[in-house]
Amino acid sequence: MEGNAKLAVVIMAAGKGTRLKSQRPKVLHEIGGKPLLAHVIAAASQVVAPGDIYAVIGHQAERVKAAVAASGVRFVEQTEQRGTGHAIQCAREAIAGYEYILVLSGDVPLIRAETIEQLWQFHQSEQAAMTILTAAPPCPTGYGRVLRQSPDSPEVEAIVEQKSLTPPQQTVREINSGIYAFKTAPLLAHLDKLTANNAHRELYLTDMAGLLRAAGERVVAVEAAEAAEVLGANTIAELVALDSTLRAAAASRLMAAGVTIFRPETCVIDAEVEVAPDTVIEPFVQLLGLTRIGAECLIRSYTVIENCTVGDNVLIRQGCVLAESTVGDGAKIGPFAHLRPGSQIGEDAHVGNFVETKKARLGKGAKANHLTYLGDAEVGEGSNIGAGVITCNYDGVRKHTTKIGKGVFVGSDSTLVAPVTVEDGAYIGAGSCITKDVPAGALAVGRVRQITKEGWVAARRARQKTPE
Ligand code: UD1
Ligand code: CA
Repeated sequence: MEGNAKLAVVIMAAGKGTRLKSQRPKVLHEIGGKPLLAHVIAAASQVVAPGDIYAVIGHQAERVKAAVAASGVRFVEQTEQRGTGHAIQCAREAIAGYEYILVLSGDVPLIRAETIEQLWQFHQSEQAAMTILTAAPPCPTGYGRVLRQSPDSPEVEAIVEQKSLTPPQQTVREINSGIYAFKTAPLLAHLDKLTANNAHRELYLTDMAGLLRAAGERVVAVEAAEAAEVLGANTIAELVALDSTLRAAAASRLMAAGVTIFRPETCVIDAEVEVAPDTVIEPFVQLLGLTRIGAECLIRSYTVIENCTVGDNVLIRQGCVLAESTVGDGAKIGPFAHLRPGSQIGEDAHVGNFVETKKARLGKGAKANHLTYLGDAEVGEGSNIGAGVITCNYDGVRKHTTKIGKGVFVGSDSTLVAPVTVEDGAYIGAGSCITKDVPAGALAVGRVRQITKEGWVAARRARQKTPE
């Protein structure tokens, strides 16, 4: 349906989200690592082109706009939020040129493109003025209820909001998802008939069902296959529940593809993460953003990996933090290693206990196993970085690079003051402070010479016993 000019999508996203008790606009709260509104836009973009998607924004409009501007959707301002019906009134000009519109709610984020398509197909086949996507969740409380003419009929009499339900209506289990299809002409013809004569003193879009029906138009309902997909996020508890649903789905998807995840309910995995078969993920691991992990890896507990590419056969031990970095096949990381952005760990390289890297490239088989900081550094193939080595990359104003060639041995507790180069095969004595380049094959020692005074201890003891 891409580029189909007769259909637009309107996403209602102007509300404050009072029930969240938050400074942040509701639609910018995140589940699955992404704002609610971004989820809805992603689903809508599979149905119509982004240029035909209109987000109605109002509360903290600039912030909302900035967060999703890259998606290419258009914006309609609802300066004062006077209800969902008013939101559509504000979009009047935007939608006037389209024959049909689909209305989505910015706080119903799990909706899938397939279900939007299903609503759209049903709407067309029924030739209705309004089609309501409904569901029958285990707990309908809080949602508007859909009153059908009879249980088996698609025809709808009205939608009644929770607060206005009569006791018999409270037994109705079919809820309004807040997602609709409209024929634009009848919608616009009757839109101004909405009144704020209700519990919230707002213009309810839901009242269009009764209004259109009274005007002799067809109003029908279609039930979504999965009620979980149309649940709203009005409170933090509801948000967290939707987040859990998404994470569980992500873990299931990976497990179905041959990845072992122990205690998946403790892991946080973003929707776009990819992991190859035979990789094992221990409890309490987070895989975030656009992370890619190869086959036969072991990711041990309490590790967080964000936007990284990890090869095959990699071992990442407990408690590591990896961000915007790459790790080659067969590498071993951790425990407690921190790979900061721009780290490139080569094949079979080791980055061990309490090692921090930033914009550091380690060649094949290079090792930095203990208590090291490698910032703005290059370490050639097979080089060994001793315990406690530090690249001093910052002079207080600018960052400088440390270049370490292939097969270099840097003794423990050495500091390399950048910019500095250590050429292939060189040796650095332990405890050195290296400020000058070291040529290939040389030994550099930059430390105070040791003084040894034989018998000094006994002599001092003797001195201390004899008062002066
Ligand atoms: C709405 C429906 C209810 C349905 C539920 C499904 C109405 C009156 N009720 O209730 O029948 O069961 O959704 O989730 O529509 N918004 C605006 N401008 C406004 C007010 C709201 O853009 O002036 C946006 C909100 O940001 C939100 C969406 O519309 O994304 C729904 O508003 P909300 O206040 O959450 O409606 P509900 O009470 O959940
Ligand atoms: Ca809602």
